[in-house]
Amino acid sequence: MVSRETRREGLVVEKEGSGQIRMDDRLAILQDISLALNSTLDPDLLIDRILDASIRYTAATTGSVILIQPDQTLRIMAARGLGANVEEEVRLKVGEGITGWVAEHGKPLNVPDVRSDKRYVCVKEHIRSELAVPMVLDQKTIGVISVDSSRVANFSEEDLQLLSIVGTQAAQILENAKTFAELRRKAEQDETLLMISQVLGSVLDFPELFRRVGEIFSQRCQMRRSFLVLLNPETDELAIELAHGMTPEEMAKGRYRIGEGITGRVVKTGKAIGVKDVSAEPKFLGRTGMPGSGEKLSFIAAPITLEERVVGVVGALKPFPGDLPFEEDMALIQIITSALTPAVKVYFGVAREKELLLRENRLLREELKTIYHFDKIVGSSPAMEKVYETIQNVARGRSTVLIRGESGTGKELIAHAIHFNSPRADKPFFLVNCAATPENLLEAELFGHLKGSFTGAVADRKGKFGLADGGTIFLDEIGDMSPLLQVKILRVLQEREFESVGSEASQKVDVRVIAATNKNLEQMLERAEFREDLYYRLNVVPIQVPPLRERLEDIPILVDHFLEKFRHENQLPDLRISPEAVRLLTRYHWPGNVRELENVIERATILCDGKLIHTTDLPLMTGDRSERVSLAVSYEESLARHVAEELEASRGQVWNRSVELVEKTLLSAALREARGVRLKAASLLGIHRNTLRKKLEEYGLESADGRQPAADRGEKAAS
Ligand SMILES: Nc1ncnc2c1ncn2[C@@H]1O[C@H](COP(=O)(O)OP(=O)(O)OP(=O)(O)O)[C@@H](O)[C@H]1O
Ligand SMILES: [Mg+2]
Repeated sequence: MVSRETRREGLVVEKEGSGQIRMDDRLAILQDISLALNSTLDPDLLIDRILDASIRYTAATTGSVILIQPDQTLRIMAARGLGANVEEEVRLKVGEGITGWVAEHGKPLNVPDVRSDKRYVCVKEHIRSELAVPMVLDQKTIGVISVDSSRVANFSEEDLQLLSIVGTQAAQILENAKTFAELRRKAEQDETLLMISQVLGSVLDFPELFRRVGEIFSQRCQMRRSFLVLLNPETDELAIELAHGMTPEEMAKGRYRIGEGITGRVVKTGKAIGVKDVSAEPKFLGRTGMPGSGEKLSFIAAPITLEERVVGVVGALKPFPGDLPFEEDMALIQIITSALTPAVKVYFGVAREKELLLRENRLLREELKTIYHFDKIVGSSPAMEKVYETIQNVARGRSTVLIRGESGTGKELIAHAIHFNSPRADKPFFLVNCAATPENLLEAELFGHLKGSFTGAVADRKGKFGLADGGTIFLDEIGDMSPLLQVKILRVLQEREFESVGSEASQKVDVRVIAATNKNLEQMLERAEFREDLYYRLNVVPIQVPPLRERLEDIPILVDHFLEKFRHENQLPDLRISPEAVRLLTRYHWPGNVRELENVIERATILCDGKLIHTTDLPLMTGDRSERVSLAVSYEESLARHVAEELEASRGQVWNRSVELVEKTLLSAALREARGVRLKAASLLGIHRNTLRKKLEEYGLESADGRQPAADRGEKAAS
């Protein structure tokens, strides 16, 4: 009789020769096993504990736990004393061997001598007896616990009963552990999805959003790489747009055609594709290179579908096998891809929209430059819009244009615009000022002359009409043209031919004539100062340029335009103009029109502190009387404006500075009016001459008007 004993956590199991275990011991063993099994929820560890306990309490030498697989094979989950590779080497099916029989019948089997049992499949030479019990869950056998001994008939009936209870209990606990692991995985997945949905809800910038999703992928789902491929609808090419875990160089290599590689196939089929082992999949191109150090990788790619069209792919690479079943990884990528779709839609849309807008903008600007060439003419008042419309209509043809308008309204600019927007743009444009040149010289300038035709004509010379063949001639100030030349111009307009000075031979030309004047031609017709026939010849297309005072709404934009011009010319990048100053400019009547405005801004640029143009920098208020009158700004108003600006610029000194300005203005005006005679100035102002003297000293105004100190003369004059 051999008495064997096994110690485990203080419990001693006595097994007598008869193989009987005392009742108390059995309960203790079961409690012990139950405690051990319930102390973990890790399925692998559980199986190990089940096996160890089974071997120990049956005094076996070897043993294994197998689970029945869906394909009806028996998978050894844990083994003791059966050799290192038994899990790989022994592949039994349900029905094969003793374990297979137990798996098939769901009944325990005690084989006292394996050598006399036909069912036995030899795994280890020294095995003589075997005890196998089913692991039953809901009346279904899910696995088998099997223990062996090198002794014949090692296992008793009690062993069988004990192990059967362990088997049933283990099945239940194992199932719970699996359910728990599943739940935990689901919870982790939910957490991952929650994290991603938080990112989706809080990050607006799509590249940043994708980076964060990639980070979550890599930290929580073992993804080595994740990337977004977008389809260029114009070229049908797929390219990696954003990626996590890839260098820009690797990204640049990720270009595919529809149907090419796995990515291309996802776009073509609109279905997600998963490849468990990319090294065994020839369709996987690996164009971007592989990450990591030779580990086995799987690849999952899911389509992004917008309005039933695949516009891109989200792809990810991860080690295989990973800690999640592959199917779950695929499901996860698909869920996340569809969650990303609205953001991709915006990104894709915005990117394309931006591209389209940019292109449109470029085209529009081209158009403006090449067709209208209006970029130098500023103003958006209805009156100017009408002018632009006429320019646009007239530019294409060759009809004569007469531009009318006050001085400085932009007539010359308009003449340029017409030429440079006409089909003649690459032919010459000549400006001839009819007012500035004496008649005989003007004739020669226009039509050319032969050598010796007048004093100083030392050689033949071509005139502007001859030179401008195919182009445009701009006859500025046509109202100042002499009657003789009016006839000659009329002839060119009518016959399209002319003669050079001193020549009988006429020349044919194709020249478009644009004329301009600020004179009242109609009045000149009445006084017979301008030829009526020429007037009608010229006035085929009249363009009336409105004076600036009739389009005051253009002033702010013109001010901006000139400010920009002088800012650039004088290198004053920070130069601005106060809103008060702009408002003042819109209240002036601008007799010199845009030219005057341009000059006022230029002067202010020089007068101001280089940063801000104040009302005080505008000569309108301080210029001569006619200008001031025309300002139509009341004294109170302009003072109020001045005070407002001072309040902004020199806090704490507003009173003194304003009083000083008022007093200086009064003093200089009075002195000017009194022609420097102080006594008279004092009486004009209604102050005592001593007060006047003190004030003049205070402000250093004694010789403000450029004369010698007026005091003496004043005194003298008074005496
Ligand atoms: N609409 C405008 N936008 C921008 N600049 C303008 C505009 N109108 C006029 N200017 C500018 O004002 C100045 C005067 O313009 P332009 O010489 O064309 O006027 P004009 O009508 O020909 O004057 P004049 O009758 O005295 O010859 C130029 O410097 C021109 O660039
Ligand atoms: Mg002009």
